[in-house]
Amino acid sequence: MAKSILILGACGQIGTELTMVLREKYGNDAVVASDIREGSKNLMESGPFELVDATNYEAIEDVVMHYEIEEVYLMAAMLSATAEKFPMRAWNLNMNSLFNVLNLAKEKKIDKVFWPSSIAVFGPNTPKNRTPQHTLTQPSTVYGISKLSGERWCEYYFNKYGVDVRSVRYPGLISWKTQPGGGTTDYAVEIFHKALSEKKYTSFLSEWTKLPMMYMDDAIRATISLMEANVATLQIRSSYNLGAMSFTPKELAACIKAHIPEFEMNYAPDFRQEIANSWPASVDDSSAHQDWGWTPKFDLKKTTEEMLKNLKSN
Ligand code: SER
Repeated sequence: MAKSILILGACGQIGTELTMVLREKYGNDAVVASDIREGSKNLMESGPFELVDATNYEAIEDVVMHYEIEEVYLMAAMLSATAEKFPMRAWNLNMNSLFNVLNLAKEKKIDKVFWPSSIAVFGPNTPKNRTPQHTLTQPSTVYGISKLSGERWCEYYFNKYGVDVRSVRYPGLISWKTQPGGGTTDYAVEIFHKALSEKKYTSFLSEWTKLPMMYMDDAIRATISLMEANVATLQIRSSYNLGAMSFTPKELAACIKAHIPEFEMNYAPDFRQEIANSWPASVDDSSAHQDWGWTPKFDLKKTTEEMLKNLKSN
């Protein structure tokens, strides 16, 4: 029998694409999608779907038992910009959902867990360029505090209870199938939609704000290859730095202009600028490379081409 997988937060930016790729790989019936709301038609109709609140332990346990789930990908979370507006709600969602899944694994009801961390675990005192795997982590955002705490708990559950939990610190993720919501790096997705529909975009981050970014295909490939990696090779049970490219809004605008010469970019930084200022410009992901062979395939040029091509034909 194929292994059975549950995705919590399957209707979000990462979950939607992850579900479809896992279904293709392991079979539609082997991958149960779940979220607190319904998702795209494609996701809902291609395999099993359950309405599940990731903060409700019993609700997750019911689905795990019913489908004899072995692996859980926990993709439900409140992102950085929204979390600044609702600190307690963000803390409750981001932490309780993680404890629910870690405890299911501790009780041996599931075998393996994927949980995403973020570049948000770093803070204003962290070295900005090629940020090392092990360095100062003093996040200044609600979201970053929840991700750093989550990393500490993942490592603790691995050391104390032998829970096989695996994690990466995602950079900003760029995708055309599903839009992100409530993040600080979302400008790098919005810009493509506006470039095509209005030929102009006003960035909420300044032109010089350099951040680590990744195209969604790379993010999904990284996630699945970490989950499939030989357990003996994994040295890090908090979360792996994961890199692909780094650019500023100005550099992204220039790349779009090469395809859409009339494109016009303006800048009106808002409260998200301060969040971005506290994050790295690039990360050193050599541990991911050494331990499980991580190598990105998409740079800024290729990402821009893919985004414009796919959004145009949709
Ligand atoms: N993309 C996320 C955000 O902007 C960072 O993990 O909140």
